[in-house]
Amino acid sequence: MTTLSVGIDQISFYTSNFYLDLGVLAERNGIDIGKYHRGIGQEKMGVPAHDEDIVTLAANAADRIVTDEERARISTVLFATETGIDQSKAAGVYVHSLLNLRNDCRVVELKQACYSCTAALQMACALVARNPEQSVLVIAADVARYDLGSAAEPTQGCGAVAMIVKAQPRLLEIHPQVGNYTEDVMDFWRPNYRKTALVDGKFSTKMYLKALINSWDNYQNNGGLPIGSLSRFCYHLPFTQMGKKAHNSLFRHTKDSSQAGLDKDEFDAKLQDTLTYNRIIGNSYSASMFIGLASLLENSQADLAGQHIGFFSYGSGCVAEFFAGTVVAGYEKALFADAHQAMLDARHALSYDEYLDLWHYPDPCEGEVVTMRAGATGKFKLARIYEHKRDYVCC
Ligand code: CAA
Repeated sequence: MTTLSVGIDQISFYTSNFYLDLGVLAERNGIDIGKYHRGIGQEKMGVPAHDEDIVTLAANAADRIVTDEERARISTVLFATETGIDQSKAAGVYVHSLLNLRNDCRVVELKQACYSCTAALQMACALVARNPEQSVLVIAADVARYDLGSAAEPTQGCGAVAMIVKAQPRLLEIHPQVGNYTEDVMDFWRPNYRKTALVDGKFSTKMYLKALINSWDNYQNNGGLPIGSLSRFCYHLPFTQMGKKAHNSLFRHTKDSSQAGLDKDEFDAKLQDTLTYNRIIGNSYSASMFIGLASLLENSQADLAGQHIGFFSYGSGCVAEFFAGTVVAGYEKALFADAHQAMLDARHALSYDEYLDLWHYPDPCEGEVVTMRAGATGKFKLARIYEHKRDYVCC
């Protein structure tokens, strides 16, 4: 029996046109910029305009890949987020409307911190395996927001990624073997009544690394590829230094088990190009590992065709997964590298006061009418909130 090839056919991401240079934050907080640049590995963080939210970020990311041909094939939208805008209605339903998707298309929202997009991807692969004629639109969108002045403040950011999952994909075939790890811990969470996340920062980094090793071991037990067969690694990237710590940790854990022996410099090079975008976008929670994948595919000078990529997805709380995929020959023809670079280059740097002003976004709770101040440059915007309803526009 031949196995059907299923995976990511297209990938597109979007972030706000506003960012804060961490040099501005370092000066304001009296911190040596080396701590941000080298200690956490970040340079800039995306900050959403008042007329942007997870719906507009998601719709702007997906618009590029939802062609008329795809519109006819998309049977399901899986929307991963931990920045939900409603306890009941799935954010993807707004996106379904903004993108004019078919009425006979199912839409659902998934949550488990930053992990949920990986769950969405696996579910999408299963749906496509069941009916290879269909496409599934997988979207992840988040705004990472922590308290002003907290240690986590420089690890904010925002972004969305959209992927078409289908049979015979042009970018990446996803392998069926996975390794999972779940443990009930309080390392990062956001109760319903809070706008910002609570985090036990140092503990969260320890849990991330513990979950990595356990997921890897489970992946090995489930018939996963040996460490030496993986030529690149994409990790969940709350900040890029976390990816480097994870990579070092996996090296130490696996070096004795590798029959060929692992060279540290060669192993370090396997992280190359995955961090480029996240370093200047910041944390986009559920989207961040997949923006790392786009960064790798779009920035690698090496031909990645036929190479196996390892993925480690971590969602605080916590649920984690290690899985892998193989890059498809000709993948570079299906990328949007120039459009992504142009979007990143066109962003506007905020002053500290402008950042503060955007951070305090309007959040009407009494049903009053609030028209959002214009700021976003994307095609889709949040126009107003009135009578507890959100009104989106397409420009
Ligand atoms: N030059 C270079 N490096 C410097 C420096 C300087 N001048 N000053 C400090 N550093 C280094 C420190 O040595 C440290 O390095 P190591 O981690 O290698 O020891 C690093 O900068 C960070 O400094 P601190 O140890 O003082 O840590 P902090 O108080 O700044 O907090 C943090 C760091 C805990 C990550 C905090 O930013 C945080 O809570 N972030 C949010 C939580 C998070 O992202 N957790 C990640 C795992 S959970 C997850 O992945 C889910 C998710 O998306 C949230």
